[in-house]
Amino acid sequence: MSSVDDCRLIDLEKIEDLTGSLSPLYGQVDVPFVIKRVYYLYDVPGGADRGGHAHRALQQLIVAASGSFNLVLDDGRNKRTVTLNRSYYGLYVPPMIWRDMTEFCTGAIYLAFVSMPYEESDYIRDYQKFLSSVHTPASGGGTD
Ligand code: TYD
Repeated sequence: MSSVDDCRLIDLEKIEDLTGSLSPLYGQVDVPFVIKRVYYLYDVPGGADRGGHAHRALQQLIVAASGSFNLVLDDGRNKRTVTLNRSYYGLYVPPMIWRDMTEFCTGAIYLAFVSMPYEESDYIRDYQKFLSSVHTPASGGGTD
């Protein structure tokens, strides 16, 4: 079962000159999974909160491509808050971690590289069900 300590910041390469910076990212090299999908959040009102779910199997790397926001991570036992505010850091989040995204600054871009296509059945959106799942490891995340 994943723990919040398994969520780690990955230092991405930064190629920098007077005209700006660039960070390349390779699946199975910079992240421990094959990248199957990329999505991004934008036009998030300043101060907004999102998230409020866990994934049964999906792994992801989250980058603040612009601006800043917080990831509040919860493994059912411990919580940890990580602020993302640099485009050359990615936060790796394994399966079965409840996450809330808070305190988006105006103009923030949340960029996610993830290990699976979108599947609603991979989400756990009910916190009590999440707690039941993590405290019953043999269930493998259970069903809705
Ligand atoms: P959700 O993952 O709940 O957003 P967040 O965690 O950022 O608050 O997704 C919001 C909506 O978008 C939900 O109806 C599912 C849909 N969605 C897709 O259709 N495809 C995707 O790749 C993603 C990430 C979400």
